[in-house]
Amino acid sequence: AVQRRGYHEKVLDHYNNPRNVGSFQKGDQDVGTGLVGAPACGDVMKLQIRVNKDNGRIDDVVFKTFGCGSAIASSSYLTELVRGMTLEEAGKIKNTDVAKELCLPPVKLHCSMLAEDAIKSAISNYYTKNPNSRATDLSGT
Ligand code: FES
Ligand code: FES
Repeated sequence: AVQRRGYHEKVLDHYNNPRNVGSFQKGDQDVGTGLVGAPACGDVMKLQIRVNKDNGRIDDVVFKTFGCGSAIASSSYLTELVRGMTLEEAGKIKNTDVAKELCLPPVKLHCSMLAEDAIKSAISNYYTKNPNSRATDLSGT
């Protein structure tokens, strides 16, 4: 695809039109919240998932990122990626999946790492709040 000044057009698109910006009530039982920071630069990403108890899939997902363009693009893309996934599927996403899709240069890999950390942290927060859902997940598949 087209490269523009070193940034892939998908980065620019997600940066200019970030998808699913927002937040859910942290206290909601169905919501898992991940809040992570990048030691390298101090950027911060908050990612929240809302899980459908009936099928164990991510029904809705929002983010807020206080960070660079690549971090915003990574979180925006991640929200599109995980919607509809089971928690197990979403937990397997690697930052390299995000970096590859957005064609991030090596110096920006840690920005996509924020996205991987954020979804993992949101999932584990959800499991902490809903300790029984893990068993349901396994028996359901
Ligand atoms: Fe901040 Fe890219 S916009 S490093
Ligand atoms: Fe740190 Fe992008 S420069 S998250």
